Amino acid sequence: MIAVYLALGVILAVIVDAQDSGPNGVGYPHNYTGIPSGDYSPEWQNYFQVIQPFPNVTWTLGRNWAGNIDVQRPGHPNNTLFFWAFEKTNGSLTAAAGENSDAPWGIWLNGGPGSSSLIGLLFENGPIHIGPDYSAYANNYSWNTLADYVWIDQPVGTGFSTVDEGAWVADEDQMGVDFFGFLENLVKVFPSLATRPLYITGESYCGTYIPYITKTYFGLQNPPVKLAKIAIGDGTIGSEEVFEMVPTVTTIETYPQLIGYDPEVYQYFKEQEHLCGYDLNFTYPQNGHFPTLNFTRGIVDGSYSSARKGNRLNGQSVLTTIADRYAASESKQLAKRDREMRRELWKAEKRDLSGRPNGTIDPWYGCYIHFELLDYAVNFSYPWSAGKDFDFYDIPDALSPEAPQDASIFLNDKTTRAAIHAPTSKDWVESINYNFTGGEDGNDPSEPMAFLTDLATNATDRHVSVVIFSGNDDSLVAHRGSEVVIQNTTFGGIQGFTRKPSTPWYDDAGSFAGIVHQERNWTYVLFQGAGHLVSAAQPAAAYTFLREFVLGSNQTGLVDSTSGSIVGGEVATLAGDYLPGGLEIFYGSGTTQSTYVAPSATIAAWEKFIQTADPITTAAGSGSSKKNAAGRAGFGIGSLMASFVVTITLLRCS
Ligand SMILES: *[C@@H]1O[C@H](CO)[C@@H](O)[C@H](O)[C@H]1NC(C)=O
Ligand SMILES: *[C@@H]1O[C@H](CO)[C@@H](O)[C@H](O)[C@H]1NC(C)=O
Ligand SMILES: *[C@@H]1O[C@H](CO)[C@@H](O)[C@H](O)[C@H]1NC(C)=O
Ligand SMILES: *[C@@H]1O[C@H](CO)[C@@H](O)[C@H](O)[C@H]1NC(C)=O
Ligand SMILES: *[C@@H]1O[C@H](CO)[C@@H](O)[C@H](O)[C@H]1NC(C)=O
Ligand SMILES: *[C@@H]1O[C@H](CO)[C@@H](O)[C@H](O)[C@H]1NC(C)=O
Ligand SMILES: *[C@@H]1O[C@H](CO)[C@@H](O)[C@H](O)[C@H]1NC(C)=O
Ligand SMILES: *[C@@H]1O[C@H](CO)[C@@H](O)[C@H](O)[C@H]1NC(C)=O
Ligand SMILES: *[C@@H]1O[C@H](CO)[C@@H](O)[C@H](O)[C@H]1NC(C)=O
Ligand SMILES: *[C@@H]1O[C@H](CO)[C@@H](O)[C@H](O)[C@H]1NC(C)=O
Ligand SMILES: *[C@@H]1O[C@H](CO)[C@@H](O)[C@H](O)[C@H]1NC(C)=O
Ligand SMILES: *[C@@H]1O[C@H](CO)[C@@H](O)[C@H](O)[C@H]1NC(C)=O
Repeated sequence: MIAVYLALGVILAVIVDAQDSGPNGVGYPHNYTGIPSGDYSPEWQNYFQVIQPFPNVTWTLGRNWAGNIDVQRPGHPNNTLFFWAFEKTNGSLTAAAGENSDAPWGIWLNGGPGSSSLIGLLFENGPIHIGPDYSAYANNYSWNTLADYVWIDQPVGTGFSTVDEGAWVADEDQMGVDFFGFLENLVKVFPSLATRPLYITGESYCGTYIPYITKTYFGLQNPPVKLAKIAIGDGTIGSEEVFEMVPTVTTIETYPQLIGYDPEVYQYFKEQEHLCGYDLNFTYPQNGHFPTLNFTRGIVDGSYSSARKGNRLNGQSVLTTIADRYAASESKQLAKRDREMRRELWKAEKRDLSGRPNGTIDPWYGCYIHFELLDYAVNFSYPWSAGKDFDFYDIPDALSPEAPQDASIFLNDKTTRAAIHAPTSKDWVESINYNFTGGEDGNDPSEPMAFLTDLATNATDRHVSVVIFSGNDDSLVAHRGSEVVIQNTTFGGIQGFTRKPSTPWYDDAGSFAGIVHQERNWTYVLFQGAGHLVSAAQPAAAYTFLREFVLGSNQTGLVDSTSGSIVGGEVATLAGDYLPGGLEIFYGSGTTQSTYVAPSATIAAWEKFIQTADPITTAAGSGSSKKNAAGRAGFGIGSLMASFVVTITLLRCS
């Protein structure tokens, strides 16, 4: 079990402990008292309704339903998905067939592969949240207050979903078939869902799941649901080169703290980026397709990764290899001699990167430039160098250790389990190392998204809209990768966006929340001050986002195809390749934390340098004050800062 990856912040200790053994998801659903016999029907609403109180939930929850539902895999009645549904208003989810046909409903999925979507429910966008002291508290920004919402553990075997030994999904196509087998049964229980507009939302490895689910949908003669929109956050949509390597330099520009604001180190990374072919240039409209990117292996890859085959990367291997590599370097199990050897090699190959650009790809790291950046920060850049820890899901977090973020006590509690009709044959874990039966070593054998333009064409024809969103502080699946996918995909008959995203959007309190851009039913949203788990870091902004840009059709950022004007305007200081991050880096431990800000002269020297190296503004004049005004406005406000500190605490994992 080395697979925590995309759903949660990295948890070194857990990864190390869990490496050799761990749950594989096998189990079967529990038949609780009163289970109806026969096929799924509205009669099952009574069975699934969550009536008994749970530990620590002292406030009144709206009506909700939970349990396992068969995915209809022939020969495997134990293959089920676990769902937990919360209705928006009393009676909205239990409406009869054909009723409420305009009322949207939503699905939330976490990634992994192998992560439970209850992570999303309990730490991101659901009505119950679990704190760092394991207590439960109400989330005022729960997504079910905007639409009936269903959190689903999938594929089979994930979270409280059950699977027979050896009957995990083979690949993403089977994942899609299972998912619709489940949905067909779900709408028998809640018949109004069959005809109401469905919004499928998720994050991380959902950048793979959701496009395949959508592809399956387009292939069905009589789909059981009516898909309206998909929304993917910090998603693994493109290849690993695209989502992880390409963004490395913009990540440095966003948080120059990572390289101690050192221009020489910056030049070094710029050169490596160029030599690896990762310096993709966006044009609006996009001029031709990007080339297929390649990955040059270095020594560090050879020694520490077995998951990487050939010169291609895939979405799953990255997660495994980064986690692995960190685990390996920390692991007590690694022979002392090996650790010393690694240390010596590393010293010989790489100390200070300044003065190093010399026209060749670094032999130690090869094109693994994202890892090279993390390694650099942990060894040379304060405060990461002090804690020797790096949360690649949330750059400004250098806390070591992080505060606990653990739902297993709550979910595995006997009372909770019985209340939500969860299986008793297996315990809930947040992530398993998903064992795809069709791939080598359990890896996902599915192609990188070669079919995206086909999917986009189908989506345009079938009026399914697409939302791609990102947290600006995520370094692993960073926004520039998502932008590469958008610029390289044809939708609504044209490739990519024709104008550069640079329209601000605001949360309900009127604070700057990030950038939004919309063309031909594709919407791109960047969140300021959020890492990989966007709604955990920015619950209020994520709530506005869901209401306006996912469920709603707010036109901010929309390019008017006739006049060419943009709703909400364009702001030159937002038109750079990156949105500056905060100045503060959090360090210490999850319970005693401080913030570090570099000396102002260091910051000023960097701003002067970067203004020439990669100007953020196309307008004349000094960029730095404009940057502060536009890009960092939110951070200057005391109350926002305070809520940011609290959120950081909640984000930490055990
Ligand atoms: C649960 O009930 C179903 C029929 O309703 C039956 O097929 C299955 O074997 C039962 N499972 C267990 C574990 O008792
Ligand atoms: C499903 O689970 C039940 C209960 O453990 C078990 O008896 C049965 O063999 C399982 N079915 C398959 C096909 O493995
Ligand atoms: C919710 O609606 C049901 C009928 O659909 C009714 O029995 C129940 O009293 C209502 N509950 C609340 C809290 O309004
Ligand atoms: C596009 O839709 C067709 C059916 O019209 C389907 O056969 C095909 O698999 C779909 N492809 C994708 C990538 O959605
Ligand atoms: C992007 O533009 C720069 C500057 O013109 C150029 O050096 C580089 O080769 C371009 N990148 C690619 C992948 O074409
Ligand atoms: C861009 O699209 C082309 C054509 O579909 C594809 O061959 C290429 O791999 C894509 N490049 C990237 C970087 O995604
Ligand atoms: C990647 O490798 C392929 C096959 O060797 C080659 O055709 C392609 O040009 C390379 N792409 C880049 C960006 O160098
Ligand atoms: C560039 O630096 C690397 C690492 O020190 C070294 O292996 C390589 O030979 C150098 N290349 C040139 C052309 O100097
Ligand atoms: C309930 O909350 C307390 C902290 O207030 C915690 O210690 C305990 O583990 C929680 N119980 C469950 C079952 O989640
Ligand atoms: C993964 O599945 C294969 C069979 O498909 C099985 O041999 C192997 O033991 C499984 N691994 C785990 C960790 O369950
Ligand atoms: C659209 O969303 C923005 C969020 O930035 C909000 O300020 C604005 O009021 C919304 N417009 C409408 C028409 O609701
Ligand atoms: C966007 O979607 C709406 C609703 O399905 C549809 O009416 C409209 O034609 C679409 N616009 C474009 C440019 O495809």
